[in-house]
Amino acid sequence: MDYRLFRKLFFNFDPEKTHDIILRMMQEKSFQFLARKLFGSMEYHDERLKQKLFDGEFSNPIGLAAGFDKNAQIVSIIDRFGFGYAEVGTVTKFQQNGNEKPRLFRFAEEKSLQNNMGFNNLGSDFIASNLSRSDIKIPIGISIGKSKDTDLGKAIDDYIYLVRKLEKYATYLQVNVSSPNTKGLRDLENPYFVQELFGAAKSITKKPMLLKIDPDIDAKAALEVCSMAIDNGANGIIATNTSKDYSLLKHPKDFGGISGRAVTKKSMAMLKVLANEFLGQTILVSVGGIDSADEAYERILNGASLLQIYTSFIFEGPTIARKINEGIASRLEKDGYGNIADAVGASI
Ligand SMILES: Cc1cc2nc3c(=O)[nH]c(=O)nc-3n(C[C@H](O)[C@H](O)[C@H](O)COP(=O)(O)O)c2cc1C
Repeated sequence: MDYRLFRKLFFNFDPEKTHDIILRMMQEKSFQFLARKLFGSMEYHDERLKQKLFDGEFSNPIGLAAGFDKNAQIVSIIDRFGFGYAEVGTVTKFQQNGNEKPRLFRFAEEKSLQNNMGFNNLGSDFIASNLSRSDIKIPIGISIGKSKDTDLGKAIDDYIYLVRKLEKYATYLQVNVSSPNTKGLRDLENPYFVQELFGAAKSITKKPMLLKIDPDIDAKAALEVCSMAIDNGANGIIATNTSKDYSLLKHPKDFGGISGRAVTKKSMAMLKVLANEFLGQTILVSVGGIDSADEAYERILNGASLLQIYTSFIFEGPTIARKINEGIASRLEKDGYGNIADAVGASI
């Protein structure tokens, strides 16, 4: 079956409700079976795609980006949809409802989304319990963030609490100071806060910690904040979160963050800035508008060891991770690379 027909049907329904329903259905074996029958194989295995990074065995470089599985509900089955790893959260200390609805919008023509979720999640106790009970076969990143009600001056306490509480369940922790949907959060995306946070966190945990940055920050500021993170023990940079550049869409909302094809160029540009400075020094993870094997392979050649997708999973369907992985493997073969790691940064 052509996924576009299915997409046409479910795009008639409210985006957030549809997401919640799909998330529940994905956990059912019968749904996984049906998805395979209707759309074809969702997994692809190839030795060349395997990497060992931060003590995790990544069977392929395609991760499910943060925000899709906020409460760690599908960590034990997401590999069946072809993903090599997943990032859960963003998790806050306690449960919070997030921003007012409606807060998720589709832009079908532009294959993009705009969201103003605001870290709606069931809180760190719930997520810790889900992770401890799940049979997880893939590396898991946990994205941590400041609660809406925590003053910016006390934000560090939230992050440290979450590091202590969740590190044992994580392959790595992702520090989110780049979401546009929590008031003031991006003010924390500065060298002083990052120095304090990574300095303190790295004395608590041996787990890798990665900083996730936004696509709207200028190159100089991005390099400053990332340098400071790396100097204070960050093990990688994830670029990028959603964008507040509303010129990217024809008819945008005037709130929230944009993802999908509209941010492809911005995300790639940020990767190049970071790779020019940090390639070989830290691990770069690229996310933002990746929806094809060509785009994915370009990111790898430009310095990304790992990739993540969110919006293209919705627009291209459940076979997208398999298609991208298959395409990367065939490009590696054509270019004579024995392993994906040999291609990382080859264009720089
Ligand atoms: C509905 C929605 C919710 C998101 N929630 C989070 C989040 O909680 N934490 C986070 O770090 N990123 C979040 N993101 C950003 C994604 O992880 C990713 O960085 C961004 O969407 C760009 O990738 P994409 O173009 O493949 O979607 C969210 C994105 C969307 C669309």
